[in-house]
Amino acid sequence: MRAIYPGSFDPVTLGHLDIIERGCRLFEHVTVAVLQNPNKSPLFTVDERIELIRTAVSPLPNVSVTSFDGLTVNFAHIKGSQVILRGLRVLSDFEMELQMALTNKTLAEDVETVFLAASNEYSFLSSSVVKEVARFGGPVDHLVPTHVAKEIYSRCCAPKLPDHPTPTLPEPTPDSNSLME
Ligand code: PNS
Repeated sequence: MRAIYPGSFDPVTLGHLDIIERGCRLFEHVTVAVLQNPNKSPLFTVDERIELIRTAVSPLPNVSVTSFDGLTVNFAHIKGSQVILRGLRVLSDFEMELQMALTNKTLAEDVETVFLAASNEYSFLSSSVVKEVARFGGPVDHLVPTHVAKEIYSRCCAPKLPDHPTPTLPEPTPDSNSLME
């Protein structure tokens, strides 16, 4: 059975990669499908996002990466996929995801949505969170693959050093030396 994994991926996160890795163990092929969405103003172009994902999934033999526009179910048909794969993180994802899955079912009876529960360590993680942290100069290399973090730093903001230097212990005085002996 083949699956498509649609999304914005602006940019791909470790949470997305976790879903892709687990998805490609369940399905014979997974197509990661980057939505061309003219309504959003993204950090990365669609082509850049595809390249970033391709680099990240290169060790996986049964994954391909491409873009699509229009309805996801139509793209699933084009790809001969019976499954739309989505990750579910927190409860707040559920309402929107259920609405999408049910809408897609009305559009294509033959395409099933399969949800994978996000792994615990990524249940808070989204592309928006990554961009928010980076915008304010925070580190994101624990949230996205290394090559993605480098790209984010190079185009928007390298992580800032703390404003205040870490407090250091005072130099020992002759008195304190004698106490330590
Ligand atoms: O990563 P995202 O932004 O949560 O992905 C959302 C996506 C791309 C899966 C969703 O917006 C989508 O499927 N868009 C294509 C249009 C479509 O098929 N809409 C019908 C379902 S409501």
